[in-house]
Amino acid sequence: MKIIKIFDTTLRDGEQSPGASMNVEEKLHVARQLARLNVDIIEAGFPIASPGDFEAVKRIAEEIKGVTVCGLARAKDQDIERAGEAIRPAESGRIHTFIATSDIHLQFKLRMSRDEVLEAAVRAVKKAREFTDDVEFSAEDATRSDWDFLCRVIERVIDAGATTVNIPDTVGYAIPQEFGELIGYIVNRVPNIDRAVISVHCHNDLGLAVANSLTAVMNGAGQVECTINGIGERAGNAAMEEIVMALKTRPKFFEADTRIKTEEIYKTSRLVSKITGMVVQPNKAIVGANAFAHESGIHQDGFLKERSTYEIMRPETVGIPQSKLILGKHSGRHAFKERLRELGYELSPEELDKAFARFKKICDQKKYIFDEDLEVLVSEEVKKVPEVFSLVSLRVQSGTDSKPTSTVVMNIRGQQKETTETGDGPVDATYRAIAKLTETRSSLERFEVKGITGGTDALGEVTVTLTQDDRTVRGNGSDTDIIVAAAKAYINALNKLEIRKRVPEKGV
Ligand code: KIV
Ligand code: ZN
Repeated sequence: MKIIKIFDTTLRDGEQSPGASMNVEEKLHVARQLARLNVDIIEAGFPIASPGDFEAVKRIAEEIKGVTVCGLARAKDQDIERAGEAIRPAESGRIHTFIATSDIHLQFKLRMSRDEVLEAAVRAVKKAREFTDDVEFSAEDATRSDWDFLCRVIERVIDAGATTVNIPDTVGYAIPQEFGELIGYIVNRVPNIDRAVISVHCHNDLGLAVANSLTAVMNGAGQVECTINGIGERAGNAAMEEIVMALKTRPKFFEADTRIKTEEIYKTSRLVSKITGMVVQPNKAIVGANAFAHESGIHQDGFLKERSTYEIMRPETVGIPQSKLILGKHSGRHAFKERLRELGYELSPEELDKAFARFKKICDQKKYIFDEDLEVLVSEEVKKVPEVFSLVSLRVQSGTDSKPTSTVVMNIRGQQKETTETGDGPVDATYRAIAKLTETRSSLERFEVKGITGGTDALGEVTVTLTQDDRTVRGNGSDTDIIVAAAKAYINALNKLEIRKRVPEKGV
């Protein structure tokens, strides 16, 4: 069985999803879970892009052992030096350097000739080798590049010291058969290809990222780059859980497997969804809420007689738990901490104190506490952003015969302020009051409400997407009172906008 390396880029390409950016602490939480999942390589960020990204790569390199930690760099000296510095503390560190090879990118973006690109690629790889023996080179937009030029670049970067050569389908343009042929072409045409691992990195613009990645594996790729839940630039990247489970479910077909501990998949998916605010669609393969739900009578009947009639994978294999009743108001701190650990959250003592205090408060409002409630509760502690604005109290009046009115008291940069506003509904009135108190002018792009677990006493989770001056952020809030949850989500997003005003935008 050939072992395919899993290169996880949730913290780099995944983070490039609009509104999904993570702070250093959030990235560390995800990195710890990726290590438990047993990925081979974590691409932790793009160190030159921002001080926060540099810090995240460095902290992950310092803390996470047993996994290769990678930093991205354009084929430029200053990028490579910054990436080299960030990965220095790693037990095993990789620099991933890239330059585009397609004529479209050469002509319109880089304004460089093919020879100049070839020279820059070789130079970048040599420079990266000054910092580490583990150097990956990516030919950006490989699938729209001239195949012979691409092969020439690959041959030269391997001679220069690249140990992995990545073939990205940057714009998600490839079709599986064609992509498989390209990988086969590289295997046959590049004379020194046996000295490097072929990697693939597929985007999902035509919904083919996973299919393309699997076809590449069938044709000689030894590494797949992917993200949890398929998050990433535009339509996203290849979803790791789908690739891993396709290989595991069809071993005779692929004759390949990964080292992933599949029982950790679901936890990782939930953690990434909570931290990034990117909701997983219910019908999403492997990790969606309906992925293992049998609705039709005929299916249920067959399933009850023999599971394999309608089930090709066991939910336990990917760690999907039955939603179970766990803790109550008599539960202690130790049990609370243990359960969180099982769900993939390792909190600092301070975070744990705050989360436990909130848990006890919710126990007074809500009879049963399910795993999903805990995840919502704790993800707010994990996601904590420095608070410029915070909610002190909220009073709402609404109904069939009165104009919705909201009185909001907030702490604004250390000063308590209060105002009352009316609106088209209680949320509208509350949001008007918050915007007035914070003196902000963001526009609300999306407003999503989710009842976590059933019942009218369920914890409600609200996610909002706000835009201001071309910056998009998501905010989350949860409470048993849905209007309070909406206010918290809005304020959480406004706090993020405040931070992002101070941090320059980044991205590849
Ligand atoms: O999609 C892409 O081409 C990339 C490269 C940086 C590998 O993300
Ligand atoms: Zn990409």
